[in-house]
Amino acid sequence: MELLIGQVIRFEGDPMAEGPAAARHLARGAVAVENGKVAAVGEAEALRAAHPGARVTDLGRQLISAGFIDAHVHYPQTQMIASWGKRLIDWLNSYTFPTETGFADPRHAADVASLYFDLALSHGTTSMCSYCTIHPASVDAYFEEARARGMRVLGGRTCMDRNAPDGLRDTAQTAYDESAALLSRWHGRDRLGYVITPRFSPTSTPEQLRALGALWAEHPDCLMQTHLSEQVDEIAWVKGLFPEARDYLDTYEAFGLLGENGVYGHAIHLEPREIVRLKEVGAALAHCPTSNTFIGSGLFDMAGMTAAGLRVGLATDTGGGSSFSMLRTMAAAYEVAQLRHHPLHPAQLWWLATQGSARALKIDTFVGNIAPGMEADLIAVDLASTPLIAQRAVRAESFWEELFPTIMMGDDRAIAGVWVGGTRQR
Ligand code: GUN
Ligand code: ZN
Repeated sequence: MELLIGQVIRFEGDPMAEGPAAARHLARGAVAVENGKVAAVGEAEALRAAHPGARVTDLGRQLISAGFIDAHVHYPQTQMIASWGKRLIDWLNSYTFPTETGFADPRHAADVASLYFDLALSHGTTSMCSYCTIHPASVDAYFEEARARGMRVLGGRTCMDRNAPDGLRDTAQTAYDESAALLSRWHGRDRLGYVITPRFSPTSTPEQLRALGALWAEHPDCLMQTHLSEQVDEIAWVKGLFPEARDYLDTYEAFGLLGENGVYGHAIHLEPREIVRLKEVGAALAHCPTSNTFIGSGLFDMAGMTAAGLRVGLATDTGGGSSFSMLRTMAAAYEVAQLRHHPLHPAQLWWLATQGSARALKIDTFVGNIAPGMEADLIAVDLASTPLIAQRAVRAESFWEELFPTIMMGDDRAIAGVWVGGTRQR
């Protein structure tokens, strides 16, 4: 057994609903780790006394937390992060599709997967749900790399059979067949989960959406991820492509792609019927704030969506998002919420990046919090990682005041330790 000692943050409820009191902070706490899982959490002195034989790692004032969970990311877009000046449809055509074409080469896919996981872990992200590309090799590379690192990750083959360039289009049948083969190869193996992944309605024919809806009906325990109502121009395009649809969500609903295990990225410009239906089926949303400001998509209505009872996770959406850091992503979520005049408390931001994302991805019984029996995917956060943050934190009069400068200004320098399944990675 190993005892990690430091400040500890964990949750006993949902701070979006219950406020900051749902969070628990221990100024001198400990997490006991055994066989890759959390065995106990509590006051440091009490755990030391209860486990005198445990190996002790004293992290001082560093903050021990569940690792961050990125609810929506495109690992193949790692190398095109921060591509200038376009809005969604031009951005996809100018930067995204040419970049994704390169994943036809399995060695390139393996190289980028390795780079991506290095970046994610160095930023304290221990689980994520990624889009791959249309190429099965991009999915194999992703899962092989995650498996070698012992990580709990989700992802799937991005399906497109129209409005994409040569080399990036499949058909309804090949999307079904290749997704099904990848699902049976990877889903439930070690800590991996396959996610059925139509990119979004504009790049799938009704036949392809129907085929993927049928696949999901055969594997209802899998997640399904896609994009929904990210930009106004995109919504107009969808209306033109699906004139019979009541709204954007209906282009998924009509083909069996609306359900409790659905994770819908962005969801900024929703109509009232869409919110009602998402809530009725118990679907989840992925909020991607650095992407939404970077691509100029709009301001997600966090207060409205959580008040409506929707599960919401936090996500980088890199390379549409401009950072791999979930700290930077929390900062952007705070700023977007400020512009909507509903500021998020640090406890709420931290929850969104950990347990909120875990709940959105339905992995919250395994990861996203610190509690006995949960998998020991943990991070140690230095709350004084730069001179500027340090001089601000030292003036703090509460734990939340000490934490907030790291949320707003922290980056990978703040991630002092990362444990995956109880094993220290860095
Ligand atoms: N909509 C469809 N594909 C994408 C993508 O790759 N990134 C973002 N941000 N939006 C999308
Ligand atoms: Zn995306």
